[in-house]
Amino acid sequence: MSSNFTRRQFTRASAAASLAALLPQGVFGNTSATKKAMVHADQEIGTVRPEFHSHFAEHLGSCTYGGIWVGRNSPIPNINGFRKAAVDYLKELGVPVLRWPGGCYADDYHWRDGIGPAEKRPKHVNVNWGKYIEDNSFGTHEFMGFCRLIGAEPYFAANVGTGSPREMRDWIEYCNFPAGSTLADERAANGSPEPFRVKYWGVGNELWGCGGNYRPEGAAGEFRRYATFARLAGGNDVYLVGCGPNGNDTAWTRGFMDTLAGRTRMNGYSMHYYETGILPPEQFTPEAMYTQFNLFPRVEQSIVQQRALLDSYDPNRNIGLFLDEWGVWDRLREDSKGRLWQQSTMRSAVAAALGLNLFNRQADKLYMCNIAQLINVLQSVLLTDGPEGKNCVRTTSYHAFMLFKPHRAKTALRVETDGPKLTDFGGRGGGGGRGGQPQPEPPPDLSMSASRLGPEMAITFVNPRHDVDMQVECGLRGVTAKQGRAQILHDPDINAYNSFDKPDQVTIKPHEVAVEGGSVRVTLPAMSVATVTLQVG
Ligand code: AHR
Repeated sequence: MSSNFTRRQFTRASAAASLAALLPQGVFGNTSATKKAMVHADQEIGTVRPEFHSHFAEHLGSCTYGGIWVGRNSPIPNINGFRKAAVDYLKELGVPVLRWPGGCYADDYHWRDGIGPAEKRPKHVNVNWGKYIEDNSFGTHEFMGFCRLIGAEPYFAANVGTGSPREMRDWIEYCNFPAGSTLADERAANGSPEPFRVKYWGVGNELWGCGGNYRPEGAAGEFRRYATFARLAGGNDVYLVGCGPNGNDTAWTRGFMDTLAGRTRMNGYSMHYYETGILPPEQFTPEAMYTQFNLFPRVEQSIVQQRALLDSYDPNRNIGLFLDEWGVWDRLREDSKGRLWQQSTMRSAVAAALGLNLFNRQADKLYMCNIAQLINVLQSVLLTDGPEGKNCVRTTSYHAFMLFKPHRAKTALRVETDGPKLTDFGGRGGGGGRGGQPQPEPPPDLSMSASRLGPEMAITFVNPRHDVDMQVECGLRGVTAKQGRAQILHDPDINAYNSFDKPDQVTIKPHEVAVEGGSVRVTLPAMSVATVTLQVG
């Protein structure tokens, strides 16, 4: 037994194992367990902001070039150079906000390189990712064009590491000033007389790391300087996001907030938290999967603790907490390093759902969450490949996000399950953020979240076990359900994925649900995500 495997964890794990041995066999050949749950319709948490389902696209591997942008002369079906299949799928999914151009790339990106005639744009080495030649053919106008096509609001990450306050204030003027200034007129001459009206502006990215290896005091000092001029240029129409911690680094937040000292208005504060995977995506074992899943209580703990810390500086919660990079980061193939191409499996979909469930449960503490990344990088919702990059498939994670659409803009409700309490963070998971050292863990249990708007209620159930089918009896306190329907994403194989040959191997299907007044009964096969939508009164 590892010295880090506490007595409490050991007792829990042994209890789970012996209980499993006593349980009857379920309909799917697994152990079957009955789970009791309750939705408290009278206990509201906060709005499930659609922004919790936001995304992130970087100039990295084939996310932007090849994924989003194939070029106007490509044989791949495109709309003015944007991959048509990606546009169609993303429109259907709905991407509330799209963050760009990085990531680490943001602090090496100079926006002026990406405007004007494409053939005259300079070529640089992408020093962060694979050292490929970046020809800047995808710049501000192209990004805005893509956002408009898919209906996403843009979120720019401005360059602090190798940039300047002037560069950022000029970018804001170029994008948002209506007309008459040289920069606004240049935008018009480049094809956009109408201002872009970009609201969200990140002030650097991961300043504790690739953004310049700052200390929190230095990063906050930069925020004060950059934000002064960004605010002058953009006024109250811009929403400025400061660089928060890696995982739950409370020392970073204290150092940053102490230095900020309320001198410069910061609208948002961003943290990053990746859920490391110790094996290649298609080769997970149940043990490795549980180690990864058990990082999610750590993410939840980080949100609770970082928000509490921010509250001590900002009691009225004027500063929005962002989780603008999250998602599973598995062990990458040798040829994928520098490109971060990663397959999304049934395990990844369950992981996405564990994250989206916890965002609902902590809806009052969050402002925006952006999964990394949109196409072909890390936990992407689309993958493109095949001869000449022709194919475009929706990953299992795409379908997990789809199952959460019914929650958007509803009010999250408190839920209760008979498993370990959601606030029982003690001893679970590894260290904070990327690079944590996960320890052996007991298997995770039923995860759920619920939300309501008027007569509509949505409940999402996640069975993260590979060997247990769950019969869930869920009570509804404070409402009566009239009718309901359910949809499920499920594959018994934790490593199942949507390939270019079998693009619909793992997709959403209708599912049975029994609705009787104050209760809902649903069967969750091992490895499944199900959303029940109800008409309630
Ligand atoms: O998403 C990949 C990288 O992860 C981003 O560029 C960076 O911000 C983070 O370290």
